[in-house]
Amino acid sequence: MDKIVIIGGNTLNGSVKVSGAKNAALPILSACLLTGGWHRLHNIPHLKDIETIKSIMSELGVVFRDGGEALEVNSDDLNDCEAPYDLVKTMRASILLLGPLLARYGKARISLPGGCAIGARPVNFHLKALAAMGVDMFLDRGYVNAMVDRLKGANIIFDIPTVTGTENIMIAAVTASGETVLKNAAKEPEIQDLADMLRDMGADIEGDGTDTIYIRGVRDLSPARHTIIPDRIEAGTFMIAGAMTGGEIKIESCRPQHLGALIEKLKSAGTRVKATGDSILVKGSGSIESVDIETMPYPGFATDLQAQFMALMCIANGRSTIKETVFENRFIHVSELKRMGADIEINGNQALVKGKDRLLSAPVMATDLRASASLVLAGLVAEGSRTEVHRIYHLDRGYEALETKFEKLGATIWREKE
Ligand code: EPU
Repeated sequence: MDKIVIIGGNTLNGSVKVSGAKNAALPILSACLLTGGWHRLHNIPHLKDIETIKSIMSELGVVFRDGGEALEVNSDDLNDCEAPYDLVKTMRASILLLGPLLARYGKARISLPGGCAIGARPVNFHLKALAAMGVDMFLDRGYVNAMVDRLKGANIIFDIPTVTGTENIMIAAVTASGETVLKNAAKEPEIQDLADMLRDMGADIEGDGTDTIYIRGVRDLSPARHTIIPDRIEAGTFMIAGAMTGGEIKIESCRPQHLGALIEKLKSAGTRVKATGDSILVKGSGSIESVDIETMPYPGFATDLQAQFMALMCIANGRSTIKETVFENRFIHVSELKRMGADIEINGNQALVKGKDRLLSAPVMATDLRASASLVLAGLVAEGSRTEVHRIYHLDRGYEALETKFEKLGATIWREKE
């Protein structure tokens, strides 16, 4: 197992190129199951989560050709409809295979992520929507066994907007009979990217990017060519790094329009942010003002940037309140940031952060991807000998070569074997 070592205190400067979005690539890869032929996908990031979904899809019979420039995906000869526990347990997004397998083969056997039972979080909305589309399901030894003759269109109202739930049902509905209407759908850019890919395959979808999505079932699909959108969470992580270290970072190959909420908050914190075309220039002012945030579904402040923004607030002037409304308990990073000298109090789903002049280096670890990123950010500004971030397989799930990118910006950071 590897760890990341950081000697904090360097000002970061230069430009960094953002990779393709993990959370767009995952549903888009699973959508390749809908039809045979060679799909051609550009800008697929090199990440552990992508390897995981490719492994599961390979077990199903999908063939991948990685030509360097594009990943080609072929699902002509599927030989199985099962996503096994050993792989699913490492990545909840594996549930995204359920919709396309049911659409193509009328059956699927998928291990429930985290061993959750039907009706309980985190996939009850997916299952309820599929039941409304005519799917019969039963639970057996932690697996959901699902079957249907042909999916039928339905009116589905999500209790709360669910990102992968919206994606799963959108994929399932593409070849269903009749029209499916998804209300209270998630509006994240990754959903629009998936819809673009599905339309390229021949799907009839409207309304993606709003809270009501219309999908009229079609009979014939063909393989698609698609370029994955840039990862807005990776871009946001570098923006926050610029604000924290006081340097000037140009974040290239990103979509500033996907980062509106973060841009506003960083400006309120005193950071200079200039968005032009597909890049964002961030200039830390040296003095960080405290700002309150509340996470929300898109276009609100992303829960996937909450931990990183909290690292910034740890060195701000004054107090800030950070409210997490998307997940009940996404404060895993707090106790580790405290080990680095941060002053944070948790009260329910709110954290009160009292900004300090400095953070101190320490060995830390986190059991969540974004929490781990916040610890790397804290390490970049920490005083003392060295910060070691352990268990970085979480980082490798969602950040491509994070330490190399930070090193190119001037950080003293490297990867070491434990
Ligand atoms: N929920 C349910 N039942 C469901 C589905 C969701 O109760 O059937 C609840 C969840 O527990 C949560 C809320 O609804 O409280 C929203 O969850 P959502 O379904 O939107 O999350 P997700 O689809 O599982 C995706 C991203 C997450 C990101 C969230 C929120 C992917 C693969 N994952 O998860 O990304 O935090 O949306 O934006 O797209 C990450 O990349 O680090 C990450 C965790």
